[in-house]
Amino acid sequence: YEVEWDAGAADKGGWSSFMAKEINEQPEAIENTIRGRIVDGHVEIPELTALGEDRLQNVDRIIIVACGTASYAGLVGSYAIEQWARIPVEVQLSHEFRYRDPVLTERTMVISVSQSGETMDTLMAVKYAIERGVTTVSVCNTQSATIPRESDAAVYTHAGPEVAVASTKAFVAQITALYLLGLHLGRVRGTLSAADEAAAIAQFETLPEKMAEAVATHDQIAELAHWMADTRSVLFLGRHAGYPAALEGALKLKEIAYIHAEGFAAGELKHGPIALIDHGQPVFVLVPSPRTSPLMHSKVVSNIQEIRARGARVIAIVEKGDTAVLPFADEVVRIPLTDALFDPILQVVPLQWFALELSTAKGLDVDQPRNLAKSVTVE
Ligand code: AGP
Repeated sequence: YEVEWDAGAADKGGWSSFMAKEINEQPEAIENTIRGRIVDGHVEIPELTALGEDRLQNVDRIIIVACGTASYAGLVGSYAIEQWARIPVEVQLSHEFRYRDPVLTERTMVISVSQSGETMDTLMAVKYAIERGVTTVSVCNTQSATIPRESDAAVYTHAGPEVAVASTKAFVAQITALYLLGLHLGRVRGTLSAADEAAAIAQFETLPEKMAEAVATHDQIAELAHWMADTRSVLFLGRHAGYPAALEGALKLKEIAYIHAEGFAAGELKHGPIALIDHGQPVFVLVPSPRTSPLMHSKVVSNIQEIRARGARVIAIVEKGDTAVLPFADEVVRIPLTDALFDPILQVVPLQWFALELSTAKGLDVDQPRNLAKSVTVE
């Protein structure tokens, strides 16, 4: 009697795909990225401390360079770093960076974000920055990869190996690392209030647990995707740090379900994209917390009313207890309560599941989408 041994399935730990496994691993990815970096009520990243306090205090501008999902993590991170460290942050696609002859001084810090640490576009951007004498920090998931080795400091995400081409757990770990970096910079520069630091640390302490709850939205999303298997176009709306999360939801759908998808800043709708809305157009809306962001919340609820009046099919991702959208949404997906900056980390999870389930419903290879490689090592 011979037992049939499927090495692939064994690696997937019983999950139907690496992507499903990796979405499920997100609570640990966050927990492991935080571990050891909160000491006596303060965020402490030794790799940054090693750069010297003077160097960190002198930074007057941060440029984040990255591609794809990593660039969206950079965009989410930019809101937190600006808020806590009061340094202007811009995010540039790595492959655009050097062609614009960027203004770089000895007070500029270039932070690269890369899961693999081998993306050629990002490596070339980092090398360009090094040649111009700016401080380079790498946020990377792969120990001793080329980009962290070349950089002045490496802040590793500890998401564990990511196999699926579509990045999931690395994304949430990258945001986590950038937030920790923002808190460290804010403390060293004296721009972070004790209350803000305590509030952020309290969020981090409960984040893995809340992430597990967000992961549990799977069955609801699977049901939704089942009914939407023939969908040809999906739009995603977000505001503030939820905007890059909307971009990420759209990228996931394009990558693995080959469906046209676009992400928009919700406020941008009336400047053009609302013309796309007609009867039955599915629109995912990432709704900010009504408790922590009442103004943004009310604006997004108005956006939902506008698109609903034009026939959109609204799938609202809301904080538990938010009832304001109920009369205008066709489907409501609930995620746990967090602070505004932490919302996108949880809001993105149902979007990851949606892409995975639509890809599966279409009979596609979830882990190995056509035309794509896990690591893009050519320019
Ligand atoms: C994510 O789902 C993509 N496969 C892709 O956008 C990826 O994030 C990008 O190529 C950057 O890769 P890196 O993080 O390894 O640098």
